[in-house]
Amino acid sequence: MSIRAGAARIASPEAAVMASFQNVTKSFGAFKALDRVQFEIKQGEILGLLGPNGAGKTTAMRILAGYFPPTNGRVTIDGSSIADHPEKAKRRVGYVPETVQLYGDQTVLEFLDFVAQIKGVSRPERSKHVEDILYRCGLWEVRRRLIGRLSKGFRQRVGFAQAILGDPGVLILDEPTTGLDPTQIHKIRELIRELGRDRAVILSTHILPEVSLVCDRVAIINRGRLIAEGTVAELEAGLKPGQEVRLTTGEAHRRENITAWFESIAGIRSVQVTDEREGRLFYSLFAAEGYEVRPEITRRLVQENVPLYEMTANRLGLEEIFLSLVLQDPATPAEGILP
Ligand SMILES: Nc1ncnc2c1ncn2[C@@H]1O[C@H](COP(=O)(O)OP(=O)(O)OP(=O)(O)O)[C@@H](O)[C@H]1O
Ligand SMILES: [Mg+2]
Repeated sequence: MSIRAGAARIASPEAAVMASFQNVTKSFGAFKALDRVQFEIKQGEILGLLGPNGAGKTTAMRILAGYFPPTNGRVTIDGSSIADHPEKAKRRVGYVPETVQLYGDQTVLEFLDFVAQIKGVSRPERSKHVEDILYRCGLWEVRRRLIGRLSKGFRQRVGFAQAILGDPGVLILDEPTTGLDPTQIHKIRELIRELGRDRAVILSTHILPEVSLVCDRVAIINRGRLIAEGTVAELEAGLKPGQEVRLTTGEAHRRENITAWFESIAGIRSVQVTDEREGRLFYSLFAAEGYEVRPEITRRLVQENVPLYEMTANRLGLEEIFLSLVLQDPATPAEGILP
């Protein structure tokens, strides 16, 4: 099977809800890592979870994997609440954590056989099932190597393999392709799509093209709150055909004035300084549908005697949609998401 952009499938309305978050809040002391988050994943659907660093993605996935409970709200796996049936829920879930912790003194084969036992794969089926997974995850050649001596990418593959052992109905993948080489990334994405045909998959990633390639639906979280949810096409349609204008000006010491002029131009929805160096300011502006803001930008800069070094405009793709939604979210601090 090959994967391509725009290959999103919509789960049929009758498809079973395999996992859901109902009004979930997670507090660490006074800090809310998740604030009343709601979403569901149906059978045959791959949901991409996006958000800046610290948004709450890993926290959401740990709750779904039964790693810790929510402070408030209800989480279900296959119709039952995790709180009421924790063991049942855990058996239905395969989880690839952000950093895979593995026992280093076992071989890959020993470890996977051990996990298969824990997950209740019956003895007659076990060796065939483990063999199949070794092949699918590109681990056959290293099956007799000690896990502790494997390279990072291979350990990541072992993490993926242990998650899909036992054929769980819900797969939770926290940045599953981070640290893999390009051929493995391609293989793992294919495998995720294949697995997602009859399971429910939730994956987080910072690689936005990965979302278009792999996911059917997207949920964007920012500072613990769900700020957008839908198919990639729906999110694009919500904002298209706006554009992102990137430009570089001089006179960095006049940053506040320049920013204020841009903000006052009709059609400009957000203004962000992405970098400042050597006396220059690098801007990213988002303009609403139907507005051509570039002539006014140029006019204003000429009038104020500020040099313009470069200006480009792009239609909004997923990356710009993501940035635009996050930057416009009132929860995002004024200085933006950059440190
Ligand atoms: N055990 C914990 N105790 C206190 N705060 C925590 C704990 N776990 C997470 N947090 C905080 O919750 C917030 C969300 O963290 P989380 O790891 O879920 O973010 P993330 O979206 O996965 O980010 P990244 O993209 O960097 O992986 C962060 O501010 C983090 O510091
Ligand atoms: Mg994370």
